[in-house]
Amino acid sequence: MARPRVLSGIQPTADSFHLGNYLGAVRQWVTLQETHDAFYCVVDLHAITVQTEPAALRRRSRVAAAQLLAAGLDPERATVFVQSHVREHSELAWILNCQTGMGEAARMTQFKDKSAKYGESAASVGLFTYPILQAADILLYQANSVPVGADQKQHLELTRDLGQRFNHRFGDTFTIPEPYILKEVEKITDLQDPSAKMSKSSSSPAGILDVLEQPGPLRKKVMRAVTDTGSEVLFDEENKPGISNLLRIQSALTGVPIPDLVARYEGQGYGTFKKDVAEAVVEAFTPIRERTEKLLGDEAELDKLLAAGAERARAVARRTMAEVRDRVGFLPTL
Ligand code: TRP
Repeated sequence: MARPRVLSGIQPTADSFHLGNYLGAVRQWVTLQETHDAFYCVVDLHAITVQTEPAALRRRSRVAAAQLLAAGLDPERATVFVQSHVREHSELAWILNCQTGMGEAARMTQFKDKSAKYGESAASVGLFTYPILQAADILLYQANSVPVGADQKQHLELTRDLGQRFNHRFGDTFTIPEPYILKEVEKITDLQDPSAKMSKSSSSPAGILDVLEQPGPLRKKVMRAVTDTGSEVLFDEENKPGISNLLRIQSALTGVPIPDLVARYEGQGYGTFKKDVAEAVVEAFTPIRERTEKLLGDEAELDKLLAAGAERARAVARRTMAEVRDRVGFLPTL
């Protein structure tokens, strides 16, 4: 039997992925390529739902793609591509827009949060229909499951609803995908504010560990991470959220279970522990940074890899769209 298909996307909105992206998504995507027919896209159409400088978008799209490859996605096995290269995403999104109720779209909490941030009237219509474009990304590839963080559950529900509605109205066309919620044990918080998620949009630079950062600043940030009162290295989310976050980071990066780490640092204080966490981060990120730099050093070669990914993606997308076009009643193009 064919391998189940996964599809996921990541936005090119930063000059580097951070530790939260890496552990929460990218590293798990790499694992999934072993068992699944994997499609991963850099979602630049989603990125322009908020005002974006063209030069920054271009740079960040390449940086995102390079980091995915550098983190271990193998272009021979996984299909890594840029969303805008496959025109069918926009085409299907339009058709799905026309199957979505205003009220249904207006219930999306991520839109409500984001539009509140930019101001209701400054938010674009594209931001409003963002989840519908996401549904198109997924349905286009007939994906069986979609590895995403828990914050994307509502978008996945909408995707399933739209897929089912289309199948019901026009006949069986789409595979209805299951969400594959990525592991929350690895939820990483802001180094300066352990109560908040590590996030590009809300964390201060000192609170974020970027994959492409140099060892010096990485070490400094870990050493300056907010720790808690007391001096013992204990896993206690309630009373020691800072230390608990660092334990989660070290455990995720080294594979050593948290209780073993706690035992290892018994009687040693925070200093030694933080130094080891810093080393674990530097060790994990350095090879990825070096490979990313190498990939970015030869843009022509990187663009060629992405063109090949787009070609493979397009082969699947084209097949779905031919059926969709016919089912909604568009005339054949001769
Ligand atoms: N909305 C997703 C996020 O912010 C990104 C995304 C776009 C995505 N298209 C997708 C995720 C398709 C999974 C599948 O995390």
